[in-house]
Amino acid sequence: MRGTATPLRRSPDPGSGPGTGTGPAPDVLVLGGGVIGLVTAWRAARRGLRVTVVDPEPGGGAATVAAGMLAAVTELHHGEETLLDLNLASAARYPDFVAELEEAAGGDVGYRACGTLAVAFDADDRAHLRELHALQQRCGLASEWLTGRECRRLEPLLAPSVRGGVRADGDHQIDPRRLAAALLRACERAGVGFRRAAAARLLTGRDRAVGAALEDGGQVHAGQTVLALGSRSGTLAGLPDGAVPPVRPVKGQVLRLRMPPAGVAGPFLSRTVRAVVRGGPLYLVPRENGELVVGATSEELGWDTTVTAGGVYELLRDAHELVPGVTELPLAETRAGLRPGSPDNAPLLGPTRLPGLHLATGHYRNGVLLTPVTGEAMAQLLATGELPGYARPFTPDRFAPSRPLQQEEQTV
Ligand code: GLY
Repeated sequence: MRGTATPLRRSPDPGSGPGTGTGPAPDVLVLGGGVIGLVTAWRAARRGLRVTVVDPEPGGGAATVAAGMLAAVTELHHGEETLLDLNLASAARYPDFVAELEEAAGGDVGYRACGTLAVAFDADDRAHLRELHALQQRCGLASEWLTGRECRRLEPLLAPSVRGGVRADGDHQIDPRRLAAALLRACERAGVGFRRAAAARLLTGRDRAVGAALEDGGQVHAGQTVLALGSRSGTLAGLPDGAVPPVRPVKGQVLRLRMPPAGVAGPFLSRTVRAVVRGGPLYLVPRENGELVVGATSEELGWDTTVTAGGVYELLRDAHELVPGVTELPLAETRAGLRPGSPDNAPLLGPTRLPGLHLATGHYRNGVLLTPVTGEAMAQLLATGELPGYARPFTPDRFAPSRPLQQEEQTV
């Protein structure tokens, strides 16, 4: 699309505010150093742009809580067929993306092509799963209906009460913590600069975004600014009305357990296992390093990231129903993170109505899955001024009101 993006150009000179630094101003300022901000920065740097990332703790964020399922097929929902195309495009890029990133960062990112089994317990769950399978078939996706016995043949530790399931051999997994760490290293090696401070305010001048003021008192000026602050993207001061992304936090509590080494009877679980239990989704993601990730609650509680006894109880109760042996495992960690939810559950990618300001946020349940395609699309936008065709249905203007931007100008 030809939008308000600024075509590739070098910024004329460094800003003059305190903390701007002595080097030249970057072409691109990325606000937020989670996986979405980092992949945008890495890909943009690879295209020859000078990039600075602002984040007090780059490599953190919601992905460090996430399970890392690449579940385009088993996490499909009615009404999300457009998002499905983007999810599939990103899943298809994963093997090459991982190979390139591992070479650039010099480390393993825990990508595992293990497939997924989604199972049902009672008549309601089974009807729900049948619906999902029918939708997958209508969308032309590769998935197969299995009986309960066939499910247990694949995963012998499943409860005897499992009544059927859907096998999706293309839904894989990655370790999001290793992914974030590798992206951070790849950025550093590609020459991306880091300002370890929080962004305090968007700076604007002459009707465009020109950078950000930081909480440490500094400023960074750039020709283009990317807002990638996850669930906090709408809270940045200085955003004019009409450019505020409609994202909200959706809390997810997640557990990490330790599986025993695979014995003669095979591994504890050999693939991701999912279910809907009492109407709520549950998943168990077994990593090759022995970690078993159990998730996740979905709670609309604002900025609360408390791990609650009730959340842990429900996850363990449901996981025990699915695979009774889980309660024998050591519980290694409990965490809560905030998914950046958007009104249509799809990300906001691309230019805003304020020239020079782009969004890469609102990835909701699919931030890890959408990491490769987001980096590619945002880097193309930043380098050429145009988003690739597959990203155009996700531009922020689908939510923007038609009234003019209201902005309070910041002197820079
Ligand atoms: N995609 C998994 C979750 O959001 O819980």
